[in-house]
Amino acid sequence: MFEEIDKLLISLNAVVIENAEQKEQFRLKWLSKKGIITEQFEQFKNIPNELKKQFGQKLNELKLKTQEKFDSLSLEQKTTNTPHSQLDLTIPTDALLPLGSMHPISIVKQQIISIFSKIGFDVSEGPEIEDDWHNFTALNTPLNHPARDMQDTFYVSTEPPMMLRTQTSSVQIHLLESKKLPIRTISPGRVYRNEAISARAHCQFHQVEGLYVDTNVSFADMKSVLSYFTKSMFGNNTKIRMRPSYFPFTEPSAEVDISCSLCKQAGCNVCKYTGWVEIMGCGMVDPQVFENCKIDSTQYSGFAFGMGIERLAMMKYKIKDLRLFYENDIRFLSQFKETIEV
Ligand code: DAH
Repeated sequence: MFEEIDKLLISLNAVVIENAEQKEQFRLKWLSKKGIITEQFEQFKNIPNELKKQFGQKLNELKLKTQEKFDSLSLEQKTTNTPHSQLDLTIPTDALLPLGSMHPISIVKQQIISIFSKIGFDVSEGPEIEDDWHNFTALNTPLNHPARDMQDTFYVSTEPPMMLRTQTSSVQIHLLESKKLPIRTISPGRVYRNEAISARAHCQFHQVEGLYVDTNVSFADMKSVLSYFTKSMFGNNTKIRMRPSYFPFTEPSAEVDISCSLCKQAGCNVCKYTGWVEIMGCGMVDPQVFENCKIDSTQYSGFAFGMGIERLAMMKYKIKDLRLFYENDIRFLSQFKETIEV
């Protein structure tokens, strides 16, 4: 409602009345019985009581400005005869431009950052164009390793091989090579895969990687961190389950499922009637990854995890088609007005 009036104020501002005919057209469109102003005043009864005062002020502002615009031609005519005299581009605009809102991916990303920052994780980043070492080899995925086929890659050059990163796990390597231990960090960012675009897959999406390295880090530490995270993100009643899995850079590896918040585990098409939804991969950092980064794996241990932000946002907002995130359709985007706690 408020936005509608803001939009009207903008269009009103842009109206130019230069002659009697235009003035009459303006009167019919804005001020007549069936005009915009009457139409807007009719909305008043639908406004919730607590907003009535504010809405009323807005309506009056619109009405006043419309009347001023209507009267302005005669005033202008009295003072000058220049036909374009109304078009003073230096007059500051007083109509509020409609405010934009944060993209749902940014909202969820900020929520993830905020949840992890409460338990001492900092935020780190890495490049989106990667060499083979950081995206694959140092992550224990040497050339010809079958796991490379898990992720179809966009190469930007072949000699030396450079690629758009297929996973934010590459940031782990940058950090392990350059940071002083211990490390406790999350790395959000964009990743790319050569995949056909559909409701459930895209050639670009966002992940958040997590890495925790110290002496004596255990699988139990990982489970408690991930359980804290899922409860903070999806509510205290959320259960998690871990299934054994395989990732080249973690051993042992697991996939994390959360109880389906949409159907409360009764079964729906989001959880494919299983009551569980997979949200991330995780595991204990493989000792070989430590050695690749010149870290003594007998002294240090750690865990890592990675999740897709789109997947979380789809769960959170019950969005069924991934493509909506990238279409920039204002009708979709303007629904996410959530303020975030940082
Ligand atoms: N990089 C994996 C992927 O894109 C996700 C992942 C799984 C990240 C396990 C991790 C991990 O750090 O431990 O599918």
